[in-house]
Amino acid sequence: MAPIPPFAVEQWMDEYETKCKYQMAETCCASISINELVELSDNKQIKPSDLIDLSSAQGYGTTRGSNELRNNLSALYSSKVGTPLSPDNVLITPGAIAANHLVLYSLTGPGDHVICHYPTYQQLYSIPATLGAEVDLWKSNPANNWLPDFESLKSLIKENTKLIILNNPQNPTGAILPRSLLQKIIDLAESKQITILSDEVYRPLFHGITPMDKDFPPSILSMGYKNTIVTGSLSKAYSLAGLRVGWIASRSPEIIEECAKTRDYTTISVSQLDQSVAAFALSQDTIHSLLSRNIQLAKANLELLERWIIKHDEYCSWTKPVAGTTAFIKFERDGKPIDAAALCKDLQEKTGVMILPGDVGFGEEFKGYVRVGYVNKTEIVKESLEEMRKYMRKGYDDLPLSA
Ligand SMILES: Cc1ncc(COP(=O)(O)O)c(C=O)c1O
Repeated sequence: MAPIPPFAVEQWMDEYETKCKYQMAETCCASISINELVELSDNKQIKPSDLIDLSSAQGYGTTRGSNELRNNLSALYSSKVGTPLSPDNVLITPGAIAANHLVLYSLTGPGDHVICHYPTYQQLYSIPATLGAEVDLWKSNPANNWLPDFESLKSLIKENTKLIILNNPQNPTGAILPRSLLQKIIDLAESKQITILSDEVYRPLFHGITPMDKDFPPSILSMGYKNTIVTGSLSKAYSLAGLRVGWIASRSPEIIEECAKTRDYTTISVSQLDQSVAAFALSQDTIHSLLSRNIQLAKANLELLERWIIKHDEYCSWTKPVAGTTAFIKFERDGKPIDAAALCKDLQEKTGVMILPGDVGFGEEFKGYVRVGYVNKTEIVKESLEEMRKYMRKGYDDLPLSA
């Protein structure tokens, strides 16, 4: 096994997030309390204290995940599809980060070739590489709304390609892989019996595209190819990162068994209390109002961010996100990329606003880029943008350009 590289995004977050005044690097929709969750629900009989059964003994419970939670997830992946997904095809994990790790640990190793959609959450390409797999990056094209090119995916395929890893919607760009492209990826993978892992942790937070649109991407699990795996969680689109509840779902019982075998060594089971709240959040009574709160929040805040970018278009450019919680913005001066780490450090020091440097978090080729998380509370986004406006007038001209 190769030495594990530092997880750059998580390290930057650890270092700066507790010191900031305005959090504009947050990738979760504004987090909510249990009280707020209950208030949002259409079930007006329930009280916050009902979410947890104080009299039930706290054993391990159903080790693969509570029946109630897996039933709710199975319903989520079964709606609008001919073949329902059985709850047995879902494994509950402590967050999507553990879900991804279990899938990658279970399916990749020396002798395997893996292709990973890029830029994305570093875990998705660093872990297979650490486990000894050969990894190629399938790059999104910033000049084409971050759409990666299908022909270049085809050219990356090798005899031993085992896994294609996607992140849809994509962190950090907020772009999507549209339905037509997903279909082509599936046809290619199926013809060569390559498994697809799609990290759908930002699903279903779509705010710039609707299900009526022909490009609207369904979950990869709903597209008819058995060897597909989805990872997801309550953290991003559902505002409940503190629960640490995520999942692996697949149409293939063999893949689920392979992941369960690994999971026995790391997890046994996930907290009964957390799963109980998670099941309530994903229940029919609650999920729709929770998502509609977050989609509205994303739309309103993105409009503020867009106005800010238009005002500063001498220095910034972007492709407006259509989904998820993050925007990838390029900062330049005199046509050259700014030193993004210097910008992020100086901005936070002088104003308290935290954003994250793209080349530090996502790879050296993203010089001048910063990742902004814009689905925090609107008041925070407004105040941050105001601080950033003042900073652009006073501090920006003194920043170094990227080396
Ligand atoms: C693409 C992606 N996958 C997975 C995760 C992990 O999320 P969690 O473990 O909170 O579910 C993140 C967190 O930022 C992410 O951006």
